[in-house]
Amino acid sequence: MASQDIILAKLNQQQKIAVESTEGPLLVFAGAGSGKTRVITNRIAYLITEKGISPKNILAVTFTKKAAGEMQERVLSLLKELNVGNENTPLIGTFHSIGALFLRNNAKYVGLSPNFSIFDTNDSENLIKDILVEQNIDIKQIKPKAISYFISAAKNEMVSPDTFSHHYGGFLEDITAEIYPLYQKQLLSQNALDFGDLIYLTVKLLSENERVLGKYQDMYPYMMIDEYQDTNTAQYMFAKLLSQKYQNICVVGDDDQGIYGWRGADIKNIQNFEKDFENVKVVKLEQNYRSTGNVISAATAVIQQNTLRVEKALWTEKGSGNCISVYQAND
Ligand SMILES: Nc1ncnc2c1ncn2[C@@H]1O[C@H](COP(=O)(O)OP(=O)(O)OP(=O)(O)O)[C@@H](O)[C@H]1O
Ligand SMILES: [Mg+2]
Repeated sequence: MASQDIILAKLNQQQKIAVESTEGPLLVFAGAGSGKTRVITNRIAYLITEKGISPKNILAVTFTKKAAGEMQERVLSLLKELNVGNENTPLIGTFHSIGALFLRNNAKYVGLSPNFSIFDTNDSENLIKDILVEQNIDIKQIKPKAISYFISAAKNEMVSPDTFSHHYGGFLEDITAEIYPLYQKQLLSQNALDFGDLIYLTVKLLSENERVLGKYQDMYPYMMIDEYQDTNTAQYMFAKLLSQKYQNICVVGDDDQGIYGWRGADIKNIQNFEKDFENVKVVKLEQNYRSTGNVISAATAVIQQNTLRVEKALWTEKGSGNCISVYQAND
């Protein structure tokens, strides 16, 4: 069987349209278990085997290491099935791992050397604690964790140390405004950065250095993002900057499944995709492969209460299945 037939045989009509729409911005709006990730993996294979795109020119971004690992595995096994050698592979990673890669290769532009260390939450909080103590601030009253929370929220929003006080006001926020610049300076002097910086500094680098931006735009003219509803401002800007030149950006997501609001994810990124990019093609995946009819009807009845969502009509070929039972749990 030709590779095209092998790929398309795994897909339903809507999934096929999404896989074959390789040029220009594409928004795949889909429900849970409707094959969003399957679309991305097959689209990657299709770009390589049918469009002759080098794997080196393809970037796929996910949120968790686990998702990135699974995607990598699914793509490699698909390429093997299609007899594509694996001397070149697409770059598949989390926003954080891709940010780390870009920063290691361009460390000098952000004032670091390539062997910088990455502070985890614990390291960050310890550094904040030291700075608070130095500033004679009582750490029994002002918890380093709270300051760390505000600093990481600021980075998710692309708010710099100098402008923090313009954006956030309040008791703890005023202290953060004082600590944030000192913290950044300390990180730099230790040749270190924190998790938030992996995206914050990458976006800063791409927006301030045209040559570096151009290099990555040419390197990754095809970009795909899974679970796009979970992107925060910094991640959104990363996607927007990288895809600006060629506009071949495919995002898949479900506005009913935003789970990262607490860490700055903005469901509006997916809701506004059609306004943010020009000539967006929209594909909806509405066939669910995971659940039975009763589960889907119950879930639909709940999410329909949300008036801000994009209408999707999920259906399944599976029968109604068992009745659902209601379990009332304490909050
Ligand atoms: N066209 C298809 N034919 C048969 N099975 C499919 C098809 N598309 C997806 N599936 C199956 O449905 C399940 C869900 O697929 P996938 O993980 O790609 O969906 P998803 O929308 O990314 O799910 P989630 O909402 O959990 O992220 C998987 O077991 C997958 O193999
Ligand atoms: Mg998925």
